[in-house]
Amino acid sequence: MRSITDPHELQQQCLSWRRDGLSIGLVPTMGYLHEGHMALMRHARQRCDRLVVSLFVNPTQFGPGEDLDKYPQDHEGDRAKTDSCGTDLLFMPAPGGMYAPDHATWIDVPELGRHLCGASRPGHFRGVCTVVTKLFMLAQPHLAVFGRKDWQQLAIIRRMVRDLDIPVEIIGHEIVREADGLAMSSRNAYLTPDERAAAPAIRRGLVKLADMVRAGERDVEGAKHFLRQEYARELPMGEVDYVELVHPDDITPVSAVTGPVLAAVAVRVGKARLIDNILIEV
Ligand code: PAF
Repeated sequence: MRSITDPHELQQQCLSWRRDGLSIGLVPTMGYLHEGHMALMRHARQRCDRLVVSLFVNPTQFGPGEDLDKYPQDHEGDRAKTDSCGTDLLFMPAPGGMYAPDHATWIDVPELGRHLCGASRPGHFRGVCTVVTKLFMLAQPHLAVFGRKDWQQLAIIRRMVRDLDIPVEIIGHEIVREADGLAMSSRNAYLTPDERAAAPAIRRGLVKLADMVRAGERDVEGAKHFLRQEYARELPMGEVDYVELVHPDDITPVSAVTGPVLAAVAVRVGKARLIDNILIEV
Protein backbone atom coordinates (compact mmCIF):
# COMPACT_ATOMS: atom_id res chain seq x y z
CA MET A 1 0.00 0.00 0.00
CA ARG A 2 1.27 3.43 -0.97
CA SER A 3 0.64 6.35 1.36
CA ILE A 4 0.63 9.95 0.11
CA THR A 5 -0.18 13.40 1.47
CA ASP A 6 -0.18 15.59 -1.64
CA PRO A 7 -3.67 16.10 -3.19
CA HIS A 8 -2.22 16.59 -6.67
CA GLU A 9 -0.25 13.37 -6.45
CA LEU A 10 -3.53 11.61 -5.63
CA GLN A 11 -5.18 13.21 -8.65
CA GLN A 12 -2.31 12.31 -11.02
CA GLN A 13 -2.25 8.70 -9.82
CA CYS A 14 -6.02 8.30 -10.18
CA LEU A 15 -6.08 9.93 -13.63
CA SER A 16 -3.34 7.55 -14.70
CA TRP A 17 -5.33 4.54 -13.39
CA ARG A 18 -8.35 5.80 -15.30
CA ARG A 19 -6.30 6.13 -18.49
CA ASP A 20 -5.27 2.48 -18.00
CA GLY A 21 -8.97 1.52 -17.83
CA LEU A 22 -8.91 0.64 -14.11
CA SER A 23 -11.96 1.29 -11.91
CA ILE A 24 -11.43 3.24 -8.69
CA GLY A 25 -13.26 2.90 -5.39
CA LEU A 26 -13.05 5.54 -2.65
CA VAL A 27 -13.74 5.23 1.07
CA PRO A 28 -13.52 8.67 2.73
CA THR A 29 -12.81 8.55 6.48
CA MET A 30 -11.64 10.75 9.32
CA GLY A 31 -9.44 8.00 10.73
CA TYR A 32 -9.35 6.22 14.08
CA LEU A 33 -10.58 3.31 12.04
CA HIS A 34 -12.69 0.47 13.38
CA GLU A 35 -14.40 -2.62 12.03
CA GLY A 36 -17.17 -0.42 10.54
CA HIS A 37 -14.70 1.45 8.32
CA MET A 38 -12.99 -1.82 7.44
CA ALA A 39 -16.31 -3.29 6.26
CA LEU A 40 -16.69 -0.30 3.90
CA MET A 41 -13.17 -0.87 2.59
CA ARG A 42 -13.69 -4.60 2.06
CA HIS A 43 -16.95 -3.90 0.27
CA ALA A 44 -15.31 -1.35 -2.03
CA ARG A 45 -12.32 -3.65 -2.56
CA GLN A 46 -14.58 -6.29 -4.13
CA ARG A 47 -16.11 -3.80 -6.51
CA CYS A 48 -13.11 -1.98 -8.00
CA ASP A 49 -9.61 -2.46 -9.41
CA ARG A 50 -7.95 0.19 -7.24
CA LEU A 51 -9.01 1.15 -3.72
CA VAL A 52 -8.29 4.62 -2.35
CA VAL A 53 -8.93 5.41 1.32
CA SER A 54 -8.73 9.00 2.52
CA LEU A 55 -8.00 9.86 6.11
CA PHE A 56 -8.60 13.51 6.91
CA VAL A 57 -10.18 15.14 9.97
CA ASN A 58 -12.03 17.78 8.01
CA PRO A 59 -12.07 21.03 10.01
CA THR A 60 -14.90 22.64 8.04
CA GLN A 61 -17.47 20.11 9.26
CA PHE A 62 -16.83 20.83 12.96
CA GLY A 63 -18.63 23.69 14.69
CA PRO A 64 -17.25 25.90 17.46
CA GLY A 65 -16.96 23.92 20.70
CA GLU A 66 -17.07 20.54 18.92
CA ASP A 67 -14.34 17.91 19.19
CA LEU A 68 -12.06 18.88 16.26
CA ASP A 69 -9.00 19.34 18.49
CA LYS A 70 -9.70 16.20 20.49
CA TYR A 71 -10.76 13.92 17.64
CA PRO A 72 -9.06 10.58 18.35
CA GLN A 73 -6.10 9.63 16.13
CA ASP A 74 -4.04 6.51 15.57
CA HIS A 75 -2.13 6.89 12.32
CA GLU A 76 -0.04 3.74 12.72
CA GLY A 77 -3.07 1.61 13.58
CA ASP A 78 -5.01 3.17 10.69
CA ARG A 79 -2.20 2.40 8.25
CA ALA A 80 -2.17 -1.26 9.29
CA LYS A 81 -5.97 -1.54 9.04
CA THR A 82 -6.22 0.07 5.60
CA ASP A 83 -3.39 -2.13 4.37
CA SER A 84 -5.06 -5.29 5.69
CA CYS A 85 -8.20 -4.43 3.69
CA GLY A 86 -6.32 -4.39 0.39
CA THR A 87 -6.09 -0.61 -0.01
CA ASP A 88 -3.86 0.50 -2.88
CA LEU A 89 -3.51 4.15 -1.91
CA LEU A 90 -3.91 5.79 1.48
CA PHE A 91 -4.39 9.54 1.18
CA MET A 92 -3.53 11.39 4.38
CA PRO A 93 -3.28 15.13 3.68
CA ALA A 94 -1.75 17.41 6.31
CA PRO A 95 -4.27 19.17 8.62
CA GLY A 96 -4.17 22.30 6.45
CA GLY A 97 -3.59 20.36 3.24
CA MET A 98 -7.06 20.32 1.71
CA TYR A 99 -7.96 24.01 1.76
CA ALA A 100 -6.16 27.04 0.37
CA PRO A 101 -5.87 29.82 2.97
CA ASP A 102 -8.36 31.85 0.92
CA HIS A 103 -10.68 28.93 0.11
CA ALA A 104 -14.03 30.47 -0.84
CA THR A 105 -16.14 27.80 -2.55
CA TRP A 106 -18.75 25.75 -0.73
CA ILE A 107 -21.17 23.01 -1.64
CA ASP A 108 -24.37 22.80 0.35
CA VAL A 109 -27.65 20.89 0.14
CA PRO A 110 -29.66 22.96 2.62
CA GLU A 111 -33.04 21.35 1.84
CA LEU A 112 -31.88 18.03 3.32
CA GLY A 113 -29.91 19.55 6.15
CA ARG A 114 -32.70 21.34 8.01
CA HIS A 115 -33.41 18.55 10.50
CA LEU A 116 -31.57 15.93 12.61
CA CYS A 117 -27.81 16.58 12.71
CA GLY A 118 -28.16 19.51 10.30
CA ALA A 119 -30.29 21.34 12.88
CA SER A 120 -27.97 20.50 15.81
CA ARG A 121 -24.73 21.12 13.92
CA PRO A 122 -25.16 24.22 11.71
CA GLY A 123 -22.68 24.20 8.81
CA HIS A 124 -21.73 20.56 9.36
CA PHE A 125 -23.10 19.22 6.07
CA ARG A 126 -21.74 22.16 4.11
CA GLY A 127 -18.28 21.10 5.32
CA VAL A 128 -19.00 17.44 4.53
CA CYS A 129 -20.30 18.18 1.01
CA THR A 130 -17.39 20.46 0.23
CA VAL A 131 -14.69 18.02 1.33
CA VAL A 132 -16.41 15.03 -0.28
CA THR A 133 -16.71 16.93 -3.58
CA LYS A 134 -13.01 17.83 -3.37
CA LEU A 135 -12.16 14.17 -2.72
CA PHE A 136 -14.29 13.16 -5.72
CA MET A 137 -12.47 15.69 -7.92
CA LEU A 138 -9.09 14.40 -6.72
CA ALA A 139 -9.67 10.65 -6.69
CA GLN A 140 -12.13 10.56 -9.64
CA PRO A 141 -13.73 7.41 -8.20
CA HIS A 142 -16.19 5.23 -10.07
CA LEU A 143 -17.78 4.34 -6.73
CA ALA A 144 -17.64 5.57 -3.14
CA VAL A 145 -18.85 3.78 -0.02
CA PHE A 146 -20.41 5.48 3.04
CA GLY A 147 -21.95 3.97 6.17
CA ARG A 148 -25.69 4.13 6.84
CA LYS A 149 -25.08 5.12 10.46
CA ASP A 150 -24.67 8.61 9.01
CA TRP A 151 -27.94 8.22 7.09
CA GLN A 152 -28.52 11.95 6.65
CA GLN A 153 -24.97 12.40 5.35
CA LEU A 154 -25.54 9.57 2.86
CA ALA A 155 -28.88 11.06 1.69
CA ILE A 156 -27.25 14.47 1.25
CA ILE A 157 -24.29 13.07 -0.69
CA ARG A 158 -26.64 11.08 -2.95
CA ARG A 159 -28.66 14.22 -3.67
CA MET A 160 -25.53 16.32 -4.27
CA VAL A 161 -24.16 13.73 -6.71
CA ARG A 162 -27.49 13.56 -8.53
CA ASP A 163 -27.97 17.33 -8.69
CA LEU A 164 -24.41 18.07 -9.83
CA ASP A 165 -24.20 15.09 -12.24
CA ILE A 166 -21.06 13.81 -10.52
CA PRO A 167 -20.22 10.51 -12.24
CA VAL A 168 -19.79 8.36 -9.13
CA GLU A 169 -21.90 5.51 -7.79
CA ILE A 170 -22.73 6.08 -4.11
CA ILE A 171 -23.02 2.89 -2.09
CA GLY A 172 -24.60 2.88 1.38
CA HIS A 173 -23.24 0.14 3.64
CA GLU A 174 -25.25 -1.36 6.49
CA ILE A 175 -24.42 -0.24 10.04
CA VAL A 176 -21.72 -2.36 11.67
CA ARG A 177 -22.43 -2.99 15.34
CA GLU A 178 -20.66 -4.26 18.42
CA ALA A 179 -21.91 -7.61 19.75
CA ASP A 180 -24.24 -5.76 22.17
CA GLY A 181 -25.79 -3.67 19.38
CA LEU A 182 -23.96 -0.36 19.85
CA ALA A 183 -23.22 1.14 16.42
CA MET A 184 -19.47 1.30 15.85
CA SER A 185 -18.11 4.84 15.92
CA SER A 186 -14.72 6.43 16.47
CA ARG A 187 -16.44 8.53 19.15
CA ASN A 188 -17.25 5.42 21.24
CA ALA A 189 -13.66 5.87 22.42
CA TYR A 190 -14.84 8.83 24.53
CA LEU A 191 -17.15 6.64 26.65
CA THR A 192 -16.23 5.69 30.21
CA PRO A 193 -16.79 2.00 31.12
CA ASP A 194 -20.16 2.83 32.74
CA GLU A 195 -21.29 4.89 29.77
CA ARG A 196 -20.16 2.17 27.36
CA ALA A 197 -22.15 -0.43 29.33
CA ALA A 198 -25.32 1.70 29.11
CA ALA A 199 -24.94 2.91 25.50
CA PRO A 200 -26.50 -0.18 23.78
CA ALA A 201 -29.84 1.14 25.13
CA ILE A 202 -29.77 3.52 22.15
CA ARG A 203 -30.20 0.65 19.70
CA ARG A 204 -32.57 -1.32 21.96
CA GLY A 205 -34.94 1.66 22.14
CA LEU A 206 -34.92 2.07 18.35
CA VAL A 207 -35.73 -1.62 17.87
CA LYS A 208 -38.65 -1.37 20.33
CA LEU A 209 -39.97 1.70 18.53
CA ALA A 210 -39.67 -0.05 15.15
CA ASP A 211 -41.57 -3.06 16.54
CA MET A 212 -44.33 -0.73 17.79
CA VAL A 213 -44.68 0.93 14.38
CA ARG A 214 -44.62 -2.41 12.57
CA ALA A 215 -47.33 -3.62 14.96
CA GLY A 216 -49.56 -0.74 13.87
CA GLU A 217 -48.60 2.30 15.99
CA ARG A 218 -49.26 5.33 13.76
CA ASP A 219 -49.05 8.13 16.32
CA VAL A 220 -45.66 9.71 15.59
CA GLU A 221 -45.64 12.00 18.62
CA GLY A 222 -46.58 9.06 20.85
CA ALA A 223 -43.80 6.92 19.38
CA LYS A 224 -41.21 9.67 19.93
CA HIS A 225 -42.45 10.21 23.49
CA PHE A 226 -42.12 6.46 24.11
CA LEU A 227 -38.50 6.49 22.95
CA ARG A 228 -37.59 9.52 25.06
CA GLN A 229 -39.07 7.81 28.11
CA GLU A 230 -37.23 4.64 27.27
CA TYR A 231 -33.92 6.55 27.15
CA ALA A 232 -34.70 8.40 30.39
CA ARG A 233 -35.11 5.01 32.09
CA GLU A 234 -32.44 2.91 30.34
CA LEU A 235 -29.80 5.57 29.72
CA PRO A 236 -30.19 8.04 32.58
CA MET A 237 -26.80 9.65 31.95
CA GLY A 238 -27.78 10.34 28.31
CA GLU A 239 -29.02 13.69 27.08
CA VAL A 240 -31.24 13.33 24.03
CA ASP A 241 -30.30 15.74 21.25
CA TYR A 242 -33.08 14.56 18.93
CA VAL A 243 -35.50 11.71 18.45
CA GLU A 244 -37.18 11.97 15.04
CA LEU A 245 -39.14 10.03 12.48
CA VAL A 246 -38.31 11.31 9.02
CA HIS A 247 -38.84 10.50 5.39
CA PRO A 248 -35.79 8.38 4.47
CA ASP A 249 -34.94 10.25 1.25
CA ASP A 250 -35.65 13.91 1.91
CA ILE A 251 -35.10 13.81 5.70
CA THR A 252 -38.26 15.77 6.53
CA PRO A 253 -40.14 14.86 9.74
CA VAL A 254 -43.28 12.82 9.15
CA SER A 255 -46.48 13.57 11.07
CA ALA A 256 -48.05 10.19 10.25
CA VAL A 257 -46.61 6.84 9.24
CA THR A 258 -47.93 6.12 5.75
CA GLY A 259 -44.85 4.50 4.19
CA PRO A 260 -41.22 3.76 5.01
CA VAL A 261 -39.83 5.96 7.77
CA LEU A 262 -36.44 6.42 9.30
CA ALA A 263 -36.29 6.65 13.08
CA ALA A 264 -33.13 8.59 13.90
CA VAL A 265 -31.62 9.63 17.23
CA ALA A 266 -28.67 11.55 18.60
CA VAL A 267 -27.84 11.19 22.29
CA ARG A 268 -25.03 12.80 24.23
CA VAL A 269 -23.45 10.30 26.59
CA GLY A 270 -20.65 11.92 28.56
CA LYS A 271 -18.21 13.43 26.04
CA ALA A 272 -19.64 11.45 23.11
CA ARG A 273 -22.50 12.45 20.85
CA LEU A 274 -23.80 9.14 19.51
CA ILE A 275 -26.13 8.74 16.55
CA ASP A 276 -28.07 5.73 15.33
CA ASN A 277 -31.08 4.99 13.16
CA ILE A 278 -33.41 2.28 11.96
CA LEU A 279 -35.34 2.09 8.71
CA ILE A 280 -38.93 0.99 9.31
CA GLU A 281 -40.70 -0.37 6.25
CA VAL A 282 -44.45 -0.59 6.77
O1 PAF B 1 -18.33 10.28 7.73
C1 PAF B 1 -17.20 10.79 7.87
O2 PAF B 1 -16.29 10.21 8.45
C2 PAF B 1 -16.95 12.17 7.30
O3 PAF B 1 -18.08 12.97 7.39
C3 PAF B 1 -16.42 12.15 5.84
C4 PAF B 1 -17.45 11.55 4.90
C5 PAF B 1 -15.14 11.34 5.78
C6 PAF B 1 -16.13 13.57 5.36
O4 PAF B 1 -15.16 14.18 6.14
